[in-house]
Amino acid sequence: MLKVCDELIRVLGIETSCDETAASVVSLANDSKPEILSNIVLSQIEEHAAFGGVVPEIAARAHVEALDGIIEAALADAGVDLSDIDAVAATAGPGLVGGLIVGLMTAKAIAAAAGKPLIAINHLEGHALTARLTEGIEFPYLLLLVSGGHTQIVRVAGVGDYQRWATTIDDALGEAFDKTAKMLGLPYPGGPNVEKAAAKGDASRFSFPRPMKGSAQPDFSFSGLKTAVRQAATAIAPLTEQDVCDICASFQLAVADAVTDRVLRALNRFRDEFPDATAPALVVAGGVAANLAIKQALEKLCLGSGFRFVAPPLKLCTDNAAMIAWAGIEHLKAGVDDDDAFDFVPRSRWPLDTISTPIVGSGRRGAKA
Ligand code: KG4
Ligand code: ZN
Repeated sequence: MLKVCDELIRVLGIETSCDETAASVVSLANDSKPEILSNIVLSQIEEHAAFGGVVPEIAARAHVEALDGIIEAALADAGVDLSDIDAVAATAGPGLVGGLIVGLMTAKAIAAAAGKPLIAINHLEGHALTARLTEGIEFPYLLLLVSGGHTQIVRVAGVGDYQRWATTIDDALGEAFDKTAKMLGLPYPGGPNVEKAAAKGDASRFSFPRPMKGSAQPDFSFSGLKTAVRQAATAIAPLTEQDVCDICASFQLAVADAVTDRVLRALNRFRDEFPDATAPALVVAGGVAANLAIKQALEKLCLGSGFRFVAPPLKLCTDNAAMIAWAGIEHLKAGVDDDDAFDFVPRSRWPLDTISTPIVGSGRRGAKA
């Protein structure tokens, strides 16, 4: 088992699971708050924009080209060199396998050459533990992860103690935003552009379905909503700019409504399972957490339900390596057995909760998280 006895732990984190090449150094000193010493994220958005989505081969090549320089920059920004680092933590899944290979192999090489321990991190665990890095929140809490590849509600009760309470049975929420944008002729990535258009639209013009609302099943679904948007758009084509804005506003309202319904169900379950939790919290993560309308709806829901609403800074909600370095520190503190990390093979699919039944067809090719 890895042992770090120093009073000061410093971990280098590496993230390459999708279209961000990222490296970061995070430190934790005894009895003080963790510190992000550096956090470098290079987005590949421009390289993929022409294709309307992430192209795995382009992503992997871009990681190869950029990663060494990004790691050097992260160490330099933190004012440390490899000898000051206690361990190297790298995303080992889930994600695009080409990118995962680049990141994990680089981490293995650095750790082996510097004689440092290696920690293979599940990308979803990085998202799940971020609020402890930024807000120091205590277990247990609920995580709503809404990104381009995942839409999940996870009960987080400790390091390694995760239970998925809901997932999507078809599209991820970010994916639904991206596909809606594409249908309406808005540029990639779709989410921010749909939100921008929605701000100028009339949300009451179209009455879109709220998939799964009121269902006894806890999961999410967005493909029906996407179809409804397509039908509405086709029916009034060609679309004016105002039509697009009205569709976006109506779509966003339907999403916020459907998501809050699913989250309320989970908050109630959390209350039942943890009646003694004095300050229960809902934490959001993933790119869709940038959406103000969704955030405000969730905030209101939490306020009315006695939950604290925690939204880490956006830079740490979207993909980054600080969350991977922090997950590494959490492993070290909790004494997780990561001795086999040098033998770890990257996993394109790697559920955080290995006990809950997988849902066939959920999420997009296990790629973006
Ligand atoms: O977490 P993230 O940066 O990357 C991964 O998916 O790993 O999330 C990206 C997703 C995209 O689908 C993007 O369209 C969506 O988050 N997104 C948004 C907004 N900003 C980003 N969706 C809705 N509203 C936004 N403002
Ligand atoms: Zn992610």
